Amino acid sequence: MTVTSYSSALLNGNDVHSRKKLPYVVDGFGTRAIHVGSEANAATGAVIPPISLSTTYKQDGVGNHKGFEYSRSGNPNRNALETALASLEAGGGHALAFSSGSAATATIVQSIGPNAHVVSVNDVYGGTFRYFKRVASETQGLESTFVDFENADDDTILASFKDNTKLIWIESPTNPTLRLVDIHRIVSLARSHVAKPLVVVDNTFLSPFYQSPLLLGADIVVHSVTKYINGHSDVVMGAAILPPHHVRLAEKLRFLQNAHGAVPSPYDSWLAQRGLKTLHLRMKAHGVNALKVAKALQRSPYVEEVLYPGLGSHPRNALAYRSLSPHAKKFVDDLRSIRDEDGVSPDSEGGFPYGGMVSFRIRGGAEEADRFLTALRLFTLAESLGGVESLAELPAQMTHGSIPEKERSLLGIGDNLIRLSVGVEEGDDLVRDIEQALQVALRGENHV
Ligand SMILES: Cc1ncc(COP(=O)(O)O)c(C=O)c1O
Repeated sequence: MTVTSYSSALLNGNDVHSRKKLPYVVDGFGTRAIHVGSEANAATGAVIPPISLSTTYKQDGVGNHKGFEYSRSGNPNRNALETALASLEAGGGHALAFSSGSAATATIVQSIGPNAHVVSVNDVYGGTFRYFKRVASETQGLESTFVDFENADDDTILASFKDNTKLIWIESPTNPTLRLVDIHRIVSLARSHVAKPLVVVDNTFLSPFYQSPLLLGADIVVHSVTKYINGHSDVVMGAAILPPHHVRLAEKLRFLQNAHGAVPSPYDSWLAQRGLKTLHLRMKAHGVNALKVAKALQRSPYVEEVLYPGLGSHPRNALAYRSLSPHAKKFVDDLRSIRDEDGVSPDSEGGFPYGGMVSFRIRGGAEEADRFLTALRLFTLAESLGGVESLAELPAQMTHGSIPEKERSLLGIGDNLIRLSVGVEEGDDLVRDIEQALQVALRGENHV
C-alpha cells in the first residue's frame, strides 16, 4: 500500500502542492481517518502508535531536541490526534485538542480579548451559554446577543452585529430541537459587515462526517470530541480546527492551549484517535438507524411530532441535504440510487441519514415521557450522546434543566420532548424497543 509511506501532511490534503516529489493524492474520508497521523513507528515498526506517557524529553544539547520538550506543550499522541483531526474536518489545516469541548470554547472566547461582543444562535449548548453569560461577561467584559439564526431575516441578523462583534457562534443542528442554520448565509452576512467577525461552528452533532463548515466559509470548527469523534463514551475531550490560511489565529490558540494547560492526556489522545478511525462507519450506521427510528416514530399514533431533518417531511430537509459534506452527500446519493426488487428506492419519501440525533414529542406530558424512558430496554436513560450505544433523555429535566422554564418553552423544550442518541445496534431492535416503550407509556401494555 502506498499511502503509509506518505507523510501526514500529504494525506492531510492541504499542503500537498509543497511536496513536489510526491504524487498528488487526496484520499477519501475513511482512508484519512485510518491513516493520517498513524504512520508505522519509525523505531519499532509498530503499526499502532505507542502511548507516550513521558512528561519530559531528553535534549542532546540545550534546545536541541526531537520536537518535544514538555508534554503540556506537545506530546506525540496529541500531535498525532491533531494531525488526524485537521485532516478529517474537510478544509482544515490546523487542529488543537483540549481537555474538553468546553475548554476549546473557553479558549476561543478568551482569544478575542476584552470588551468584545458575540452574536450566538439562540438555542446554543447550555455550557456555551453559561460561559458567555456567567464567565466571560465577568472576566473579559464579553457582551452576548442571541438570535434565531434559523428564522430571522438578513436585516435582523445584521442589526445584531456591532462594531466590536468579534465572533458569530453557530450550532447546527441545535440541541435538542434540531433546528438548522444556513451556515453559508451567516458566513456571507459576517463577511459583509465592517466588524468582520469570525464565524465559529460547533459541529459536534453532525461530526466531520456529515457537515464541513470550513468548506462553507467558517473560520473555526469546534467539537466536543467526547461525542461522535471518540464515539465510545469513555473520553472527555474537545478540539478546535481552522483552515490553513488562519496561521496567526492558530498560533494564538496554540499559545493559549499551552498557557492554560487544558490539554488532553496521551492516553485519552490515543483512545480518541482509535475511536476516530471508525468515525465514517459509525456515522453511516448512526444515520441509517436514526432515519429508521424517526420513521417508526412518525408512524406511531403515540407521537405528536418527530424532529429529524433527514426526514423527507421535515421543513428544512432541503437545507439539510444542501449542507451535507461532500463525503456524506456521496454516501446519501449512493444510498438513494439503490433500488429494491420493485425498482423502488428504500426511502421513496425523500428521507436520508442525517446524523444520529432524533427528538420527538410524545403524546401526553411528563408522566408519559417518564414511563416511556423507563420502559426502554436498549436505550439507556442518560445524558450525553454520540457513543455506539443508544441513549435517551428528557431535556426539560436533564440536559436543559438549568434553563428557566419560560425560556425553555420559547425554545420548544416542553415536558413531552424526548431526545434520542441513536446508536449502532441493529436498527430493527431499536425500533422494536421504541415501539414497545411507547405502548407501555401510553397504554400501560408491556410486551417485553
Ligand atoms: C454541542 C455541544 N458543544 C459542546 C459541548 C461541551 O463539550 P464537553 O462536554 O466535552 O465539554 C457539548 C456537551 O454536551 C455539546 O453537546
